[in-house]
Amino acid sequence: MWLELLFIIVGLSIFAIPGFSFAPWVPTRKKDLARILRLADLKEGEIFYELGCGNGRVSCFVADRSAARVIGIELSSILYVICRVRNWFHQNHRLSFYCKSLFEENLSHADVIYFFGMPDKIASRLKAKFEKELKPGARVISYVFPIEGWTSITVDRPTKNDLQIFMYQIGQAIDKSSILA
Ligand SMILES: C[S@@+](CC[C@H](N)C(=O)[O-])C[C@H]1O[C@@H](n2cnc3c(N)ncnc32)[C@H](O)[C@@H]1O
Repeated sequence: MWLELLFIIVGLSIFAIPGFSFAPWVPTRKKDLARILRLADLKEGEIFYELGCGNGRVSCFVADRSAARVIGIELSSILYVICRVRNWFHQNHRLSFYCKSLFEENLSHADVIYFFGMPDKIASRLKAKFEKELKPGARVISYVFPIEGWTSITVDRPTKNDLQIFMYQIGQAIDKSSILA
């Protein structure tokens, strides 16, 4: 009951903020957090972005277990406040949250991108942003849905009951030179 109410409030709050929503709030499953961290394979000082970070679950998990700089971007102001409260308890100086549209963020410094978006929105806007801004070698992790037209370097699905996680690398998933030409 309370959880349903929270989902409705958070869902409605997205419409109160101007910006293109690429997905409603549905959190990544807790049991998949370790898989995401393993796939990200973060080195010290690398920059990890969670685009549409929801309640900050993934960002906090990754920041606590890596030496990377973690940046969560969230459109919904209510979810953003939850992220900030979470970080207040974590007190992790390598973790930052921003309340804005991911489409306003320049991703050219990102080493790893994680997101959980809807396939049509990924295809219509997110993919083009990645192709324009991400540097060669950057890794892109998409929860559940593939990026149409890109070739994944890994599709992680330990058992039939698990959700798929797609992993891409700029330069292998796509050839940037052909796009820039
Ligand atoms: C499917 S949820 C995933 C939440 C979180 N990444 C997780 O895995 O637990 C998608 C999130 O993206 C946010 N979102 C949608 N459009 C956005 C945009 N343009 N910029 C930033 N966040 C956005 C939604 O508010 C929602 O919290």
